[in-house]
This record gives sequence, C-alpha cells and structure tokens, in this order.
Amino acid sequence: MPRFPRSSPFVQQLSDRVFSQLAERANSQPGPVYPLHVGDTYLEPLDAAKAENQASADHPGLHKYAPVQGEPELLRAIADKVERRSGVRPKLDDLQVMPGATAGLMVVCSALLVPGDEVLLPAPFWPLIRGIIRARGALPIEVPVFDRLGAQGLEQGSEPSFDPAEALEAHITDHTVAVYVNTPNNPTGACLTSEQLESIGELARKYDLWILADEVYEDLYFGPTAPRSSFTLPAFADRTITSHSLSKAYALAGARVGYTHGPHEVMQVIRGTQTFSTYCAPRPMQFAGARALADGDAWLSRTRKLYASAAKEAADALRLPTPPAGTFLFFPSKPYRRAGESTIELLERCLEAGVMLTPGSASGSEYSDWIRLCFTCVAPADLTAALERVAGVLLES
Ligand SMILES: Cc1ncc(COP(=O)(O)O)c(C=O)c1O
Repeated sequence: MPRFPRSSPFVQQLSDRVFSQLAERANSQPGPVYPLHVGDTYLEPLDAAKAENQASADHPGLHKYAPVQGEPELLRAIADKVERRSGVRPKLDDLQVMPGATAGLMVVCSALLVPGDEVLLPAPFWPLIRGIIRARGALPIEVPVFDRLGAQGLEQGSEPSFDPAEALEAHITDHTVAVYVNTPNNPTGACLTSEQLESIGELARKYDLWILADEVYEDLYFGPTAPRSSFTLPAFADRTITSHSLSKAYALAGARVGYTHGPHEVMQVIRGTQTFSTYCAPRPMQFAGARALADGDAWLSRTRKLYASAAKEAADALRLPTPPAGTFLFFPSKPYRRAGESTIELLERCLEAGVMLTPGSASGSEYSDWIRLCFTCVAPADLTAALERVAGVLLES
C-alpha cells in the first residue's frame, strides 16, 4: 500500500522537542534565561582533547574516513580506560567506537530488535531511549524504579523494600526481549546496588533477555567509591551490550564519540549495523577522545569535585536530597505548586523568573508532575544566580 505522504508509523511519535514543551516560550522571554534544562556542561574539555588541537600534521589524513571499528589509538585508550574503571579488560575485537551513545544505542537496538518486541524500561529514564526503542517499531515498557529505591535513590516516594527485579518481572510477556539498565541513572542520579543489579541479571538469565547497559554516567559519582560497572557482574556475562560516552565525563558532547562492547558474536553484528549507520565516528574527534581517555584522569577527578559541589548547592537551595551521581536533580512538583496550578504552569513561572527547567514527562509517562534540573550546564556563579531564582519561585510560601 502506498505510504506517501505519510512517514513510517514508528517515527510518528518522535519529536525534536522531547526536552521541553517550553522551548518556544523561552525564545520570547525578555532577558537572559538560565538553561538548566539541558544535560550538558559549562566546562571546557582537557586541552589536548579540544577540536582545535587535533592537527593534520600529527594525524595524516585527519579528515578521511576512520576504520568502522574505530581508530586503533582510541580503541587502545578505551580498553585501558575500561580496565581502569571496571577492573575488566575488554578484548579489542569486541569494542566498537560509536558516534556518541545516542547513535550507539540506536545501532544496538537496530541490531537486536524487531517490530513488536518489548523492552523493559526502568523509569524515570533518559528521554531519548524511549524514542530509540520506538523508532525500531519495538515497545518501551515503562516500569517505575529509580524514584522508589530507598537509601540509594531519592527520599520522596522511596520504598525501602522495593525490589527492581521483582517490579520488572511483573511486566515480562512472551514479547519481552531486552531490559535497559542505566546506572547511574539519568535523571535521578540514583545508582543500583550490586545486589539489585545481580537480581536484574538473574531475571535476564531466567527469561533469556538481552541487557542493554547504559554507563554514560559511570564517572560522575560523588561518593568515595565508584559504583559497580554493571557488565562485570557474573549474571550480566554473555548477554550484556554496554554503551559508554565521552560526552558527560569528558565535556565532549559535541565531539560525538562513545563506545560499545559486549559478547563477541553480537559485536560483529553490531559492527555490521554501524557500517550502514554512520560508517564511522568523526575521525578528528576520535583522536581527541583518545587523548581525553589516556590523559584525562586528573581532569576528571577535578570535574567530579566541581560537580559534587554543584549537586550539593542545587539540592540545598531547593531543600532536596543531594543525588549520589549524575548531573541532575529530579523532584516532584506537587509540594511547590499553587492551588490548581499544573506542573507546566509552575515551569512557566520559573521561566518568567529566568530559568528553564524540563518537565518530567520526558522521562516517563508517570512523571509528568516531576521536574528535572541540570546543575552542571552553567558556570558556578550562574548556577548560584539561577538557583536563587528557582528557589524564589518554588519556595515562595
Ligand atoms: C543515560 C544517557 N544515555 C545516553 C546518552 C547519550 O549520550 P551521547 O551524548 O554520547 O549521545 C545520554 C545523554 O544525555 C544519557 O543521559
């Protein structure tokens, strides 16, 4: 049947406005607007990793295609980095450089899913993952998890005896093929414990599911010890494809460099799929990424401290618990709404005060009355000024 002029039904729900219905209003707002709705950073990357420091003299053919798998220099830096962070060295052949984790997860979903498949999606979640699953014709099955975790999660609404695996198991059907596991989590910053991860791994084993691990925030934790890298757990072995990114921890979001690793056979399929996606990640920025990973440990420790203090400042300003990781506060709007006021109306008042925040609906259908605030996207003095404005609106009475 002809389709013209309609597009694929799988992409009809996708929108480039997922992050905020308020974007248009922000453009007509007089005066500066602090953009606390974007998950990015005010920091400049390590000097050696800046775009302007990648030179043809150092890398002949700098602007040519890179090998599909990735530049050998970057692949070595990734293997070293994964080993330093997780204690496990991936085989070079099982690594795949991706043009960022968004594209990486799109490739992974293209390689694993067919229309009608169901993917368990612990919520609240990173807004783009739902669309990535839908674009494949698969169904994201939202399961509230990260706001119910007790001590590791947020205090509001948390349930101390909550078991993520049990909650996920209740949604398994004959169509379930995968579970997406993002820890530390965007937007809550909550981290799953080794025990919780182990139970999710057992669940995946019991029902023969793929695990799509998203470790994009693996380096942005604020406690003394790094959260466990999920793919290293025995229950995750053989069935986990892990996505990483240089966007968050290394301030390289515009570079579009990330990487994926997993079991050998499926990584061959993923490499084939990546060939037909973008072929390779941007070559100049692969050299930049190699420098960030190889030389960036001191830069990263300093960044972690800066973000930890921004997290505390933001949480204190709004009288919320400090998140253990990530770049966001995520909180219910209810305590702050005037009688009869909607969350969007509350966010419009924040915008009138000069601060743009994200409605929680982007992170799951149960979270339309929640709010996401990024505490790393503006410099410290601007963050203080923006928080004063937000606090003025939210804590007015
Ligand atoms: C949880 C999560 N996964 C993946 C991504 C995508 O990262 P990238 O910039 O590498 O595409 C993001 C970006 O915000 C994210 O928050």
